[in-house]
Amino acid sequence: MRIIASVPAKVILFGEHFVVYGKRALATALNLRLNVEVSDRAEGGYQLNVENIPSFGLQMELTGTKAQPFIDYEQASRAIVYIRYAIRYLERMYGIDGGVVIRVRSDIPLSAGLGSSAAASVATIAALKRYFGLWNGDLEELREDAHNVEKAVQGSASPTDTAISTYGGYVLIEGGEVERLYDLPAIDLVTGTICSIPLGIGPEQLDELRLKTRKLVENVKARKEAFSGVFEHIASAADALTEEAIAALRHHDLSGLGCLMNINQGLLDSLGVVPRQLSELVKLAQESGALGAKVTGAGGLAELGGTGTVIALPSAGQSYKLAIAMGLTGALVRNLKTNAEGLVIEEEPV
Ligand code: MEV
Repeated sequence: MRIIASVPAKVILFGEHFVVYGKRALATALNLRLNVEVSDRAEGGYQLNVENIPSFGLQMELTGTKAQPFIDYEQASRAIVYIRYAIRYLERMYGIDGGVVIRVRSDIPLSAGLGSSAAASVATIAALKRYFGLWNGDLEELREDAHNVEKAVQGSASPTDTAISTYGGYVLIEGGEVERLYDLPAIDLVTGTICSIPLGIGPEQLDELRLKTRKLVENVKARKEAFSGVFEHIASAADALTEEAIAALRHHDLSGLGCLMNINQGLLDSLGVVPRQLSELVKLAQESGALGAKVTGAGGLAELGGTGTVIALPSAGQSYKLAIAMGLTGALVRNLKTNAEGLVIEEEPV
């Protein structure tokens, strides 16, 4: 038997960081997917194959005909920590016991604010549950399982990413609660990801990159505590932005939506989560005809190469032109659509 679980990437349109303090955030699924395939393995245990994840590099030392990995595999495998934790979680909770090959294929860049960790957790859990006869179609339970895995790896996590990977569509997050919004239209977005996990990065930095979101959330917390009166005003403004953005989307008011994105970008900058690389990409998009542009997700850290993602809203028919302009910076650029489908599970007899 072969099971394939496919889930979408997520993008936070409005309200990242402020959502940690109970404010509203709007997120949606992108038509960029991660697949986990589970099939039989006679020997028992788990064999994991990770294929073609953008931004995941492995440096080799070539001496004569021999290739030595620069990063040892144990360290590199930390990048797939969510999959390992998902397996451990299912062993403990549901008593699964291996005998499978797990193959992960992904178009979602790592550590880029596009929900690759949640996608890996949700798809791995869904595929394994189905394979071991534990899948009852309960998306809420799946989301909870994946959220537990995220918390186990990261210490804390908002439910945003796992909700989007599971449900797809649009979700509003408020006070830690997830509400699915069914009446918002799909729109075009251009994403630009500064994605180099630079080749030559040492194992320690690889670990820092994995914990990038946590570090950025801590930095914001420090700023909030230092200037609590100011922060409260900025957070209220962000909350109002999310509300206005939902109304703009409902009315197909794209120029209004773009303007709100630009304002949200200003608020994120005020939190200190926008390094030069991402800021330049936002400005370039804005000056190249985007209706609006902003950083999405946690943002970036200058010392880790500014890795992160910018979203830009193209005016009608201008997606490709905008993508070409943004691509000139060396960012990984894609023309995508919001409101993508959530989890899809397929079963193939082998
Ligand atoms: C990270 O993608 C988004 C943050 O708001 C953190 C979270 O919501 O857990 C920065």
